Amino acid sequence: MSVKNRPAIEGYIGASGSGKGVSITRRLAELAPARLVIWDPRDEYGRHAPATGSLGELVRQVRAAGPSGPVRTRYVPGGALALGEAFALVCLLVFEAGGLVFVAEELSDVTTASHAPPAWRRLITQGRHKGLHVIGAAQRPTLIDKTFLGNCTRVRCFILGYDADRRAMARELDCDDAAVSALGTDERDGGGVAIRYLERDRRARTIVQGRIDVSRAGRMTERQVPYVREAT
Ligand SMILES: Nc1ncnc2c1ncn2[C@@H]1O[C@H](COP(=O)(O)OP(=O)(O)OP(=O)(O)O)[C@@H](O)[C@H]1O
Ligand SMILES: [Mg+2]
Repeated sequence: MSVKNRPAIEGYIGASGSGKGVSITRRLAELAPARLVIWDPRDEYGRHAPATGSLGELVRQVRAAGPSGPVRTRYVPGGALALGEAFALVCLLVFEAGGLVFVAEELSDVTTASHAPPAWRRLITQGRHKGLHVIGAAQRPTLIDKTFLGNCTRVRCFILGYDADRRAMARELDCDDAAVSALGTDERDGGGVAIRYLERDRRARTIVQGRIDVSRAGRMTERQVPYVREAT
């Protein structure tokens, strides 16, 4: 396995409509995983995998694939089980299966700054040994499990609405507060949006400023330049 494809943990953090879903969609196209499980509480990832609302069905699909067979599935919670309990069960299943990409959307639904299901913590701290590649998303970094952000091999940050969140992410990204405050998702002339982000890669030891232009027709282009700290 090349370094680029080594299992990893990626965090996508930003306000609603800031560009997390667009970025994760692009990342999944790049990774093109043969084995993919998505925790999708907002039912946003229909183009990546068929949905099931049944945990039993999810377990059946993942186990039927065996340790290395193809599986692409997406769990949209909605049953009688509490969200946190359902999430813990999905995390157990993903860890048991190993060797897959796991997308966990809106972590603030199921973790807090001081609490997370033990099965999720285990994915974050030991998933690498099981060949797991975890992609997590959240709108508010200060409201989610701290172990997650601390263990991310790569973090991408978009516009944030709260001062405390911007300061927390500036530390996480090792950037100036001003650089995080300058992020935005802006309407482009002629339609579409320009999504600006900062991304830190802890393995490559790089910090970049990036921009994704989404045209009105949905066509996307992306550019990155190294982040340069402001002279003081
Ligand atoms: N296929 C598309 N074509 C055009 N614009 C899009 C497309 N998908 C998303 N956008 C726009 O890109 C921006 C970012 O959307 P995105 O879905 O990535 O937000 P998000 O960070 O995932 O938000 P949320 O937390 O609410 O899910 C929004 O302005 C959205 O309207
Ligand atoms: Mg989204």
